[in-house]
Amino acid sequence: METWDAIRSRRNVRAFADRPIAGEDLDRVLQAAWRTPSSSNQQRWDFVVCTDREQLQALSKVWRYAGHVATSAATVCLVAPRSENEHERASIHYDLGQATMSIMLAAADLGIGSGHASVRDQELAQRLLGLPEDRFCAWLLALGYPADRPLAPISRPARRPFDSVVHRGRW
Ligand SMILES: Cc1cc2nc3c(=O)[nH]c(=O)nc-3n(C[C@H](O)[C@H](O)[C@H](O)COP(=O)(O)O)c2cc1C
Repeated sequence: METWDAIRSRRNVRAFADRPIAGEDLDRVLQAAWRTPSSSNQQRWDFVVCTDREQLQALSKVWRYAGHVATSAATVCLVAPRSENEHERASIHYDLGQATMSIMLAAADLGIGSGHASVRDQELAQRLLGLPEDRFCAWLLALGYPADRPLAPISRPARRPFDSVVHRGRW
């Protein structure tokens, strides 16, 4: 897929077909995460990829709107260091946001859908993923082939009007 088509085709997918993702495709998505730029190249992240159905079902319980994780073919768990420093926390989340988008676009390029999920129950995520004490699971990214329709460029995305968002030169 062209980059522009991947950007326009990505949408949150929350219902997945019962079809696995080929190992090489999943690796490519993970490589996209690994290549993501980060503040001072600190790479304050680890990616735990889960494909076991029972583990995915258990992971889907970390937040009331994480149900789609249960039926995903794979879910990438974005793990980061805990920090007491507000500036550092913001910087880590900026980097994680970039990694998220890298994953989503690399997936869309392969026709693979993706869907974010927040993580509210940190204790459960910590236990299911076997994370060290000084790490937390920031986000989950569910991956899989869409159950409804294949990814295709969206001509009218649900967004605020372009001209009210883009300011040229000054506000
Ligand atoms: C930081 C963040 C957290 C999100 N958390 C959830 C979530 O817990 N569950 C969910 O179903 N969608 C979640 N979403 C998806 C958004 O609702 C979705 O991206 C937004 O409505 C735009 O839709 P689109 O991705 O299809 O363009 C999250 C998105 C972001 C950026």
